[in-house]
Amino acid sequence: MSNKIVIKKKIESFKKKIEVDGDKSLSIRWILFSSLASGVSKAKNLLMSDDVLAAIETVKKLGIKVKFNRNICEIYGKGIRGYSYKKNLTLNAKNSGTLGRLILGLLIDTTFPIKLIGDKSLSKRDFKRVSDPLSKFGAKFKLNKGRYLPLTINGSKKLKPIYYSEKKGSAQCKSAVIFGGLKTKNTTIIKAKKSRNHTELLCKYLNLPVKVIRKKEYDLIKINQMKKIKKLNYNIPSDISSSAFFLVLTALNENCKLIIKNVNINPSRIGVVTILRKMGIKIKFQNQKIYKGEKKADIKIVSPKSIKPINCPPSLNSRAIDEFLLIFLVAAKANGTSYFKDLAELNQKESPRLVWGEKILNKIGIKTITTNNSIKIFGNPNLNLKKKVIIKNFLKDHRVFMTSVVAALSFGGDWNIYDKDSINSSFPNFLKIISKLRKNV
Ligand code: S3P
Repeated sequence: MSNKIVIKKKIESFKKKIEVDGDKSLSIRWILFSSLASGVSKAKNLLMSDDVLAAIETVKKLGIKVKFNRNICEIYGKGIRGYSYKKNLTLNAKNSGTLGRLILGLLIDTTFPIKLIGDKSLSKRDFKRVSDPLSKFGAKFKLNKGRYLPLTINGSKKLKPIYYSEKKGSAQCKSAVIFGGLKTKNTTIIKAKKSRNHTELLCKYLNLPVKVIRKKEYDLIKINQMKKIKKLNYNIPSDISSSAFFLVLTALNENCKLIIKNVNINPSRIGVVTILRKMGIKIKFQNQKIYKGEKKADIKIVSPKSIKPINCPPSLNSRAIDEFLLIFLVAAKANGTSYFKDLAELNQKESPRLVWGEKILNKIGIKTITTNNSIKIFGNPNLNLKKKVIIKNFLKDHRVFMTSVVAALSFGGDWNIYDKDSINSSFPNFLKIISKLRKNV
């Protein structure tokens, strides 16, 4: 079967209610917490994507039983010291930075060395950012070229608490250190630039010894050794990052209306909504609820008459970090010039996304000025392509693929987009939902 998708027609206006796949960050965290819980934890609506399946495989290799009972996933935790495995264990995080980085925090007290590998994209990503703070606890690391996978972690039984200043706004680094702190006697302190806080909220729900003091510019997090994790039943809400493809598809097309049901709207994740609103797009949260400390809602959006350019405040960057490729498309159709800065972290993702954002925009005839951490986008509200656009060799970055599909359906032209199976990392139902919205094919 061809792994390429061809799109030659714009989407027609749609009015629909949809539901997207479960949240990836919460799915992976649920697996990791449940793997150390005492008793059987159950999840509904767990995201069934490759990143999440890699997390399941990982805890299985650490001796934890996982079962599927119809659409419910069950994890048989054996307590906080319940991992058991043979010597020469290799874990494979595949495409998942979240899994690869978070699991290291849980392995800092293991007995035998463990090797961690990943796919081609993950093997180009920085792991020194987690091995540096985790080695201060006393674990030892060997990394490829001092920074990359494959790496070997050698845990210690004499862990010391650390003080860690997290400056990148990386929830993965922060969470790995929270896990490390939970395994270590006495108080670990993190001064963390604001980033998604699912780990902290789960710790709070589970009554784990993690205290967060929220300051304006950063969070101060104090962590003590955990005694026990109670079993965690969870009904995973839909992913705002997956929803964002459909928010932007609605924003870029005329006379569309969309409701996306039951989406996690944790304030540390909804930068895309704040940015789209600033660009003149009307988005409402309906039926808001709190579920185990996390906010969720149905999201309603209607097509705007026109799109305003934005000078994007960098304080929103970490809250929208996975949505910038999409936000750049919206800026491409804005009525003027938009500017995004302090975005060096974008080039640390599954592909260098600032580079890919610029490439996609240039391919559709949008002028940009880019540095290694900023992009200026000269919008064109009348964008209507006639030409052929080919998107390939993007390290199978799922978000590059799906953003290109949204662009093809919104701006016209004749598109060939390769590596369709990349959607399996985060959003296996993406193309099915697209075909529900398309009447004209
Ligand atoms: C994630 C954190 C972010 C994000 C990633 C998921 C998480 O990465 O880009 O998709 O679940 O903690 P960084 O921590 O590298 O910013």
